[in-house]
Amino acid sequence: MKKNLSSSILILIIILFMHPQMVLAGSCLSETTIGSGPKVSQPDPSVEMQDKDLGIGPVKHVELGPINAKMVGEGKTIYGTQCIICHDLDQNKLGPALKMVTKSRTPEYIMNMLLNPAQMQKENANVKALLKQYNNLPMPDPALNQEKARSVLEYLRSLAK
Ligand code: HEC
Repeated sequence: MKKNLSSSILILIIILFMHPQMVLAGSCLSETTIGSGPKVSQPDPSVEMQDKDLGIGPVKHVELGPINAKMVGEGKTIYGTQCIICHDLDQNKLGPALKMVTKSRTPEYIMNMLLNPAQMQKENANVKALLKQYNNLPMPDPALNQEKARSVLEYLRSLAK
């Protein structure tokens, strides 16, 4: 009786171990089949680079359309007066270079960084890492409203084209 029980437990364990492998083998197979098909479109690499971090703050979702020239102009003016002291476009200075930031960060993250930097510095893992990297210099709150922050985002989008 005891032997029977232990051998059925053993069989159970074997089945449990084999099962995920079987599932895995099945998914590998279908992936290969899909991957080798001629009509599968490649994922957009710029989308893949986004880490999906939305940041912390008032902005939960940003609807992006075609680049809006008027907003780009407004954003460029703000950038030239409030950001350029610390953020060069191409080179890291007091803060990171921002020319390609819309390729590595989500629009929500960027806007939340502009509207809610203090909490981002305290609670967001990506910003905490940057803070360390930039000599613990906390980016000051630029005191923008959502509309102005959105224009800065539009300007940054126009640079990364
Ligand atoms: C006094 C210097 C300073 C000013 C002014 C400043 N920043 Fe920053 N910014 C930083 C630093 C330093 C960081 C890195 C995070 C930190 O240390 O708080 C940063 C981080 C950022 C990030 C996140 C970058 C990433 O890769 O995650 C964005 C976006 C950003 N700043 C945009 C702006 C914009 C736009 C302005 C102007 C409205 C601005 N900053 C003004 C210093 C500054």
